[in-house]
Amino acid sequence: MYVQQIRDGAIKPKTKSRIARNGASTALLDAKWGVGQPTCIRAMNMAIEKARKNGVGSVGIYNCNHIGRLGDYVMMAVERNMIGIVFANSDPSVAPFGGMSRVLGANPMSFGIPAGKEKPVIVDFASSVTAEGKIRAAFLKGKSVPENWILDSEGRPTTNPGDFYGPPYPPHGVNVIGAQLPAGGHKGFALGMIVDILGGALTGSGCGSDMKVGNGVFVQAIDVKRFVPIGKFRSTVDKLIREIKTSPKAEGVTEILVPGEPEFRAREERIKSGIAIPDAIWSGIIDVAAKLKVDLDRIIANPEP
Ligand SMILES: NC(=O)c1ccc[n+]([C@@H]2O[C@H](COP(=O)([O-])OP(=O)(O)OC[C@H]3O[C@@H](n4cnc5c(N)ncnc54)[C@H](O)[C@@H]3O)[C@@H](O)[C@H]2O)c1
Repeated sequence: MYVQQIRDGAIKPKTKSRIARNGASTALLDAKWGVGQPTCIRAMNMAIEKARKNGVGSVGIYNCNHIGRLGDYVMMAVERNMIGIVFANSDPSVAPFGGMSRVLGANPMSFGIPAGKEKPVIVDFASSVTAEGKIRAAFLKGKSVPENWILDSEGRPTTNPGDFYGPPYPPHGVNVIGAQLPAGGHKGFALGMIVDILGGALTGSGCGSDMKVGNGVFVQAIDVKRFVPIGKFRSTVDKLIREIKTSPKAEGVTEILVPGEPEFRAREERIKSGIAIPDAIWSGIIDVAAKLKVDLDRIIANPEP
């Protein structure tokens, strides 16, 4: 997807972001359609620096390409004893609660909370039932998706991801003709609307149908020690995590997890065993590497840059 966007000129890989506005605890970055990830790293670093000086730092980004996984940026704040928050709106793919067509983006949000002896709490999800990537993964594997995930192009509920995409089908492109449903009914819809407003209206990126590609992004860092000593905060969060994890479990449940735990475990496991990549995505990577004359065998044998 990224390679195609670079070819189309949507992503300008050599472009660096520009500070459009700068205040004591706020800033606005013009990403100038460069690569989204380094711009969002810059935005979070600025928010952290402002929070260090003034308690709270908030940075918006416009003209911004896709920033990928939001949880990575909130971890930057957590590693500095701060709370990290990221909101990102995106092109319409989700129907409003009670609607039939795409109006809101997947509109993810992420919150990172430092803990003490426990792992940090990392909340990181789209306001749609799931990220579009998971529907694509099911499509590529030829599997159906659970009920209440998607609608077809006529607004009818379906479990077939083939009803959700039009040509060129993944992995050759992503052309959504159906709609995703919001997570948690009216509550996920309401959160998605707020993400659209913070990521889109507040940053000047635009909301709803204004969004064609990329993300409108709002990041925030909050310096915990401006409120309570960091040690006290950490032990209070640890206590909450332990109360949750030791609370009585529903029938058939062996363990209660807190947000972030599944990903920390997956990370440890994947460092040991590697990352499983669906066949269709892997063959797409081989295809792109061949076209760009990238020697994949050499990279696999020697993955360090
Ligand atoms: N940049 C973009 O435009 C964009 C758009 C959509 C999603 N995304 C990214 O895609 C990723 C996946 O999003 P998603 O909506 O499919 O996430 P998801 O539905 O898999 O939810 C993940 C969140 O739920 C928590 N979680 C999962 N199982 C849990 C359990 N059993 N108990 C407690 N907590 C649990 C995880 O720790 C995590 O915080 C995220 O990293 C998100 O940032 C990015």
